[in-house]
Amino acid sequence: MSNSLFRKKSLANIIRDAKEGLADGHETDGGLHKVLKVKDLTAMGIAAVIGAGIFSTIGEASFHGGPGVSLLFVITAITCGFSALCYAEFASRVPVSGSAYTYSYVTFGELAAWVIGWALILEYAIGNIAVAISWSGYCNNLLAGIGLSLPGWLASNYDSASPELVAAAPHIAGIPIILNLPAFIVVVLITYLAYVGIRESKRSANFMVALKILVILFVIVVGFFYVNKENWSPFLPNGFSGVLKGVSAVFFAYIGFDAVSTTAEECSNPQRDLPRGMIYSLIICTVLYILISFVLTGMVPFSKLKVDDPLAFVFDQVHLPWVSYLISVSAVIATTSVLLVFQIGQPRIWMSMSRDGLLPKRFSKIHPRFKTPSFATIITGLIVGIPALFLNLTIVTDLTSIGTLFAFILVCGGVLLLPKEENTGEKRFRLPYINGQFIVPALILGLTLLFRQEIGQKLSFEGGWEVWKHNIPFFIFILVSIIVTVLSALRKLSLIPVLGMLSCFYLMTEIALKNWIVFSAWLAVGLTIYFGYSYTHSKLRRKA
Ligand code: ALA
Repeated sequence: MSNSLFRKKSLANIIRDAKEGLADGHETDGGLHKVLKVKDLTAMGIAAVIGAGIFSTIGEASFHGGPGVSLLFVITAITCGFSALCYAEFASRVPVSGSAYTYSYVTFGELAAWVIGWALILEYAIGNIAVAISWSGYCNNLLAGIGLSLPGWLASNYDSASPELVAAAPHIAGIPIILNLPAFIVVVLITYLAYVGIRESKRSANFMVALKILVILFVIVVGFFYVNKENWSPFLPNGFSGVLKGVSAVFFAYIGFDAVSTTAEECSNPQRDLPRGMIYSLIICTVLYILISFVLTGMVPFSKLKVDDPLAFVFDQVHLPWVSYLISVSAVIATTSVLLVFQIGQPRIWMSMSRDGLLPKRFSKIHPRFKTPSFATIITGLIVGIPALFLNLTIVTDLTSIGTLFAFILVCGGVLLLPKEENTGEKRFRLPYINGQFIVPALILGLTLLFRQEIGQKLSFEGGWEVWKHNIPFFIFILVSIIVTVLSALRKLSLIPVLGMLSCFYLMTEIALKNWIVFSAWLAVGLTIYFGYSYTHSKLRRKA
């Protein structure tokens, strides 16, 4: 059994399966439309990235970190950059839908592939719950602006509702009814769009992206005129630890460039265009984010930024309500496009898992007319829409960030395990190999010396178990770093994936312990399903 758990799919098999569809013809019906080009893929990346993060969660991150939060945007961009390069290497070698799931199947084998597919649900479906909640917040702002406010109990959730709101809500059998109805409705509409076709989705994504980039540029330019330089000092009002409190929120803002890789089978030239699409979108978003973080923290004192709609808020503060309204409109558009890309991505990952037999066949059934994975699209709609009615934003943001970082670590690690390939002159993206033999140990040593005090504090048992338990993730990180450093020195590992793994792991350690616990529980449920269903239904095993 242990051997079969780690059985890998060969690259050739994966590409053949994707071309043929399921061997029994269950889901082919002509395959998917190949319409996406590099411009569409870049647009899709931006569509997925710029959304709830920059319009909502950045507020609290700036409140804790002050102007120094812009440093976190740089650090996170570098971390995402390493991962993007690794995703790009995979996307050019394994140009089929399924993203990190498929990549792990090639390198680590079936069990890890399942685990990653399961973790990706956190990024795509759970992430979209967060985005739908943020969409609803801005949409309610807009409705209120034109005098059409919904009753509070139809636009909130149990965690966030004030005691007055709970008292005012209708009760059924003594239970107050509090729902986030707009969040549910937008998920239904987006699911419909994802169901009827990639072409329609592509057109809508391109349009929404153009509009949101224009508005964001406008905000940056106008905002700079209202910056009061005194607000940038002190740059780190709560030290670097204050900045690090924003890891989950800032990382959430970057999630999405990798979603582009789920559309591999709908690209006209995936090996060339997918890597470019991912990298271009990441670069564009990084520049915009860093500028926005400066504008935001320059316009008002950081201590005022603990709000859900920070960008709209700062323009209200400088008495430009019409810009604030424009931002609310663009936030609704921006988050709509994020919803769309993730709502398209999740079913395509399930489609790949179903092709491999790890999920029931229906998940890879393609609609004969619309050419989309129709059943999986509807299930995604239900899994996102129903919890969006009830959950609170922070819970889902943290879970999404931890799940996605985990996926990134496996993708970076996977690149290290990819078989060496002869350069046959084929035109495709190639991850540059930089020997990590000396650079990794030197870097780790340098960082250890630089942060020796902080590391010492985290590893000391001061404060007892109640305090120290929060350092368990950091302790695991130290162990992993030592192992990876030794392996780098002995096996001349490639630098970029190693740095990608370590930096993502470090960001994970900055996410609160309670999220690690929920994440572990999520993985445990996933493993139960794997051993209860997928293990026996796996195509790889049935063929053997
Ligand atoms: N990066 C995406 C957003 O911020 C998930 O909405």
